[in-house]
Amino acid sequence: MAASGEPGRQWQEEVPAVVVVGSCMTDLVSLTSRLPKTGETIHGHKFFIGFGGKGANQCVQAARLGAKTSMVCKVGKDSFGKDYIENLKQNDISTEFTYQTQDAATGTASIIVNNEVKTLFNPAPAIADLDPRFYRLSDVFCCNETEAEILTGLAVGSPADAGQAAQMLVERGCHVVIVTLGAEGCVMLSETEAVPKHIPTEKVKAVDTTGAGDSFVGALAFYLAYYPSLSLEEMLKRSNFIATVSVRAAGTQSSYPYKKDLPLDLF
Ligand SMILES: Nc1ncnc2c1ncn2[C@@H]1O[C@H](COP(=O)(O)OP(=O)(O)OP(=O)(O)O)[C@@H](O)[C@H]1O
Ligand SMILES: *[C@@H]1O[C@H](CO)[C@@H](O)[C@H](O)[C@H]1NC(C)=O
Repeated sequence: MAASGEPGRQWQEEVPAVVVVGSCMTDLVSLTSRLPKTGETIHGHKFFIGFGGKGANQCVQAARLGAKTSMVCKVGKDSFGKDYIENLKQNDISTEFTYQTQDAATGTASIIVNNEVKTLFNPAPAIADLDPRFYRLSDVFCCNETEAEILTGLAVGSPADAGQAAQMLVERGCHVVIVTLGAEGCVMLSETEAVPKHIPTEKVKAVDTTGAGDSFVGALAFYLAYYPSLSLEEMLKRSNFIATVSVRAAGTQSSYPYKKDLPLDLF
């Protein structure tokens, strides 16, 4: 994800300030009373198709907060791909670099090009032997507990553990590390600080936490692009707030709030 919107820069209305390179996936969701055994056919009581994919989720959240966004990805040359492009357009996301391919549209790799804009890297799904250049090349490295564990080999179950993992990632070359911690909010550490900082979030009744991480990353991209003078801590407080709103409703993109539904002091 790349974000750029520093004050003083010449800015044209059409130029996207948040560019996401990542996946667009169609979720086929069947609600059943239990999982089928191998080869078994069972009755479901509800079926729906949803728009997902971590990259697109993040882009939708940034767009709903008011960011000019562009989605760089490939979808299949099929009805799901066509519908997905329509979904991006409905969310006011530029599809200039959203391509359709004949090849199967399974997971796409995220490649971030360091082009003098702010880059936010989300190592999802994480692999233990991530190319070390990703640590150095991203301005902000944002992962969740599981991803932090896979990358560092440390068990991450508390803000203190997350701080230790962040320290290890800074030693590997990260400039700023953020570890999200579900109901515990997040922990941040930058290379210029000695001590990690825990940023808690509100206690709420969680209805569906699916996609909360993508809401958080999308919101953070929005703040990096549009409010670059805010402190990182303030951006994270606000991103926590927005992601926490998303866990109070069901679904992934369907739970992401729009700017008009959020308190004015977030903007
Ligand atoms: N139960 C919760 N209560 C309040 N806020 C939450 C809760 N779960 C998630 N959040 C908010 O969402 C952010 C990201 O959550 P989390 O760390 O679970 O990401 P994630 O594991 O990548 O999520 P997912 O994989 O479900 O999309 C948290 O930093 C927090 O702000
Ligand atoms: C963290 O994100 C990964 C995707 O990379 C997901 O599989 C995992 O469930 C998430 N962890 C938590 C604690 O939600």
